[in-house]
Amino acid sequence: MEQTLRRVLIGNKSDLPERLGKTVTIGTYELAIFKLASGEVRAIENRCPHKGGVLADGMVSGEYVFCPLHDWKISIVDGQVQKPDDGCVPSYKIEVKNDLVYVLLPE
Ligand code: FES
Repeated sequence: MEQTLRRVLIGNKSDLPERLGKTVTIGTYELAIFKLASGEVRAIENRCPHKGGVLADGMVSGEYVFCPLHDWKISIVDGQVQKPDDGCVPSYKIEVKNDLVYVLLPE
């Protein structure tokens, strides 16, 4: 089934810190936004699936963030928790037009 998405402006790409997470709240969503060293912008839910650590506060290494609470390694690209731990956080699509960053959220 097709899902309707809404496009929400979250700011300027040039204002995002590189390799540091930023917390963005939109309605009931709390997102962790990351600008990778490659310049790509990614968004995942800001809660670790383990015990709810704030992922935007984690340490970024390449395409992964380490949860600040117990160091689980989570992909910023698809939200997948890396072995030996298990789980997944929702990831959200990002669009960048000129310098503007939009996130696509379910309606
Ligand atoms: S809460 Fe994230 S690793 Fe435990």
